[in-house]
Amino acid sequence: MNPTARRLALILALATGVAFAQDAARLGLPATAPTATDEQTLARIELGRRLFFEPQLAEDGVMACATCHIPEHAFTVNAGTVAFGRGGQALRRNSPTLLNIDLATSFFHDGRAGTLEEQVWFPLLSQSEMWNPSAESVVGRLRYRREYADMFRRAFGDEGVSRKTLAAAIAAYERTLVAGGSRFDRWFYGKEEAALTTEEQAGFTVFNWSGCNACHVVDAASATFSDNRFRNTGIEWARARGELGSKKTESDLGRFEITGRPEDRHAFRTPSLRNVALTAPYMHDGSLPTLRDVVEWYDRGGSADPGKDPLVRPLRLSEAQKRQLEAFLKSLTSETAAVLAREARPRPQ
Ligand code: HEC
Ligand code: HEC
Repeated sequence: MNPTARRLALILALATGVAFAQDAARLGLPATAPTATDEQTLARIELGRRLFFEPQLAEDGVMACATCHIPEHAFTVNAGTVAFGRGGQALRRNSPTLLNIDLATSFFHDGRAGTLEEQVWFPLLSQSEMWNPSAESVVGRLRYRREYADMFRRAFGDEGVSRKTLAAAIAAYERTLVAGGSRFDRWFYGKEEAALTTEEQAGFTVFNWSGCNACHVVDAASATFSDNRFRNTGIEWARARGELGSKKTESDLGRFEITGRPEDRHAFRTPSLRNVALTAPYMHDGSLPTLRDVVEWYDRGGSADPGKDPLVRPLRLSEAQKRQLEAFLKSLTSETAAVLAREARPRPQ
C-alpha cells in the first residue's frame, strides 16, 4: 500500500463504527453513530486533516489548528501553561486535547460551542488567534487555491468551498481522533486480569472511594471520565490569590460568562481523563504542571473557595494511595494516541 492508501485505510478503520465493535482502539468508549465509509466521507476526512495543518486558514498565514493542538503532544501543547496566540500573546486558557473530542457534548472549557462545526469558527475569527475579519474571507482564500477547490468538490460535490463545508471537513477529521483501548479498558471492560498492575488496580479503588468518579464518570458499559457538566474545583479562586505560582491579572469566570448564573461562577467543563498522562499541564489554565500536583490538589480538598463543589473535599490519602491514584491515571493512555500522531501530518508524496 502506498502511504496515502495506508492512511485512508487507517482513517477508514478509525471512522467506522462497525469496525470499531471489534476494534481494540474503541474498547471502553461509548458507542457512537457509525460514520459512513463511502469515498466521499473519506475525502471529507482527508480534506479536514489537510485543513487542520493549513496556516493559510489564518489571516496572516502563520497559525494552523495544529499549532495549538500538536499531534505529537496528544493534540494539545505540553509546554507552558496557557496557549499562545497571534504574535506570541498569551491566551487565557490551556489548549484542550482533541483526542476523543467527539465524546464531549459541548466544546471549550466553558462549553460555549454546541457542536464541533460551530467550534471551528471561534479560533478562525478570534482576533488573538487566526485573526480573520470574516468567515467569507477564509472561504474566499481557499476558493482561490486550485488544489482546495478540487478537494472540496470531491468531498462535497457542487457546494464546493463554503462556510458549511469548511467546518464540516475539519469536524469530520476531528471525529476520527478516537483513542480508547487503554490498559485500564483491557482490564475493566476486556476482563484481561494482567493488563493492570496491582498498584494501578488499587488506584482505581482510591479513585472511586475518593469520589472522583462522581464527576469523571465510569460505568459498566463505557467510561468517558466526564459527566459533561460544569464544576468549580476551586482552581480559579486559588489562582486569583497567587496560590498557584504567579498571580493572575485577567479573571476567568468560566461557565458564568456564558450563562450569567451565579452557581456557574468559576465552573469549567469536567474533562475526560483518557490519555491524561499525555496532556500536561492540567486544568483550564494549565496551572498544575504534573499529575502528582493534581493528586495533591484534590488530596488537600482544592482551595478554600466558598463556592467550590462540595464533592471536592480533603481526602487525607496516604503516600501509598497517592502513588496508586497517580499510577491508575497513567494507565488510561491509549496506544492509538501515538498512531494518530504518526499518521496526522501530511507527508511528502
Ligand atoms: C492559538 C492557539 C489555538 C489555535 C490556533 C486553535 N486552537 Fe483550538 N483551542 C485552543 C484553546 C486555548 C482552547 C480552549 C479555549 C477555551 O476553552 O476558551 C481550544 C479549544 C478547542 C476545542 C474544544 C476542545 C474541548 O475540549 O472543548 C476544539 C475542538 C478546538 N480547539 C479545535 C481547534 C481547531 C479545529 C482549530 C483550527 C481551526 C483550532 N482549535 C485552533 C487553542 C487554539
Ligand atoms: C466536582 C467534580 C470533580 C471531582 C469530584 C473530581 N474532579 Fe477532577 N476535574 C473536574 C473538573 C471540572 C476539572 C477541570 C477543572 C479546570 O479546568 O479548571 C477536573 C480536572 C481534573 C484533572 C485534569 C485534567 C486535565 O486535562 O486538565 C485530573 C487529572 C483530574 N481532574 C482528576 C481527578 C481525580 C483523581 C479526582 C479524585 C481525587 C477528581 N478529579 C475529582 C471535576 C472533578
